[in-house]
Amino acid sequence: MAEYGMILTEVQGRVGLIRLNRPQALNALCDQLMAELADALKGFDKDPAIAAIVLTGSDKAFAAGADIKEMQHRTYPEVYFDDWIGERWEAVLTVRKPVIAAVAGFALGGGCEVAMMCDIILAADNAKFGQPEIRLGVIPGAGGSQRLTRAVGKSKAMEMVLTGRMMDAAEAERANLVSRIVPLADLVAEAVKLGETIGTMSAPAVAIAKDAVNAAFETSLTEGVRYERRVFLSLFGTEGQKEGMAAFVEKRKPAFRR
Ligand code: CAA
Repeated sequence: MAEYGMILTEVQGRVGLIRLNRPQALNALCDQLMAELADALKGFDKDPAIAAIVLTGSDKAFAAGADIKEMQHRTYPEVYFDDWIGERWEAVLTVRKPVIAAVAGFALGGGCEVAMMCDIILAADNAKFGQPEIRLGVIPGAGGSQRLTRAVGKSKAMEMVLTGRMMDAAEAERANLVSRIVPLADLVAEAVKLGETIGTMSAPAVAIAKDAVNAAFETSLTEGVRYERRVFLSLFGTEGQKEGMAAFVEKRKPAFRR
């Protein structure tokens, strides 16, 4: 496994675990960290032994946003021609396996945005979500104005983006930003357990299910339902469908091939 300076990676069963590990800056997402994260995600995505990926930070911070000290003096031509944000920040979106964000502490700015790029967000009871960029004289730059609005609706997103107000875990759960809240001490174990559960399913069905849910954010209802039907029917060409349905009829647990 590659050696990194700002993240830690490990494998737990069939789950690839990535921990953002830059405690002195509350996991601020500098260029080096984002490059390492992209590399680790790609590695786990390609590894057939891995069924799902968990992305987490520390107890105090998932990530406190893009690195303000690193970007402070950048000029418009520099960030424009460097295509800052761009592909480096969107690595999570290219991963085919499910990515679970296990968020404890601050998920602010780019941190909240990276969490929202993941497929599922589990929140520790101390999690805080926010898009405080307005206080820095800018706005969210990695999809926050779009993904937060789709997740929590216009009024709450507008208030957060215009004032920088943070949401605690309870509010985030009520607003459907997170799938559920877990005690801080159990957060990573719960996220890994969730990844393991996904890993017991038929891999083609998992990949297609992820695509189908994501399609809901990109297409009209009619198109999305048509897409779902097409890919649903295609699963009848997989061993997983034969095994899953045979197991049900035979009253046993399915044993999907890896
Ligand atoms: N960038 C760089 N350094 C950061 C940082 C960031 N986003 N967030 C925290 N740090 C650093 C602090 O500068 C501090 O370093 P020093 O000890 O060297 O001074 C260290 O992390 C600890 O932070 P604090 O002392 O501020 O800790 P706190 O507990 O008092 O406050 C906090 C925590 C409320 C999260 C506060 O650190 C904070 O407001 N951070 C900035 C949050 C923010 O504005 N994020 C948006 C960034 S812009 C962005 O993300 C753009 C985009 O959409 C892509």
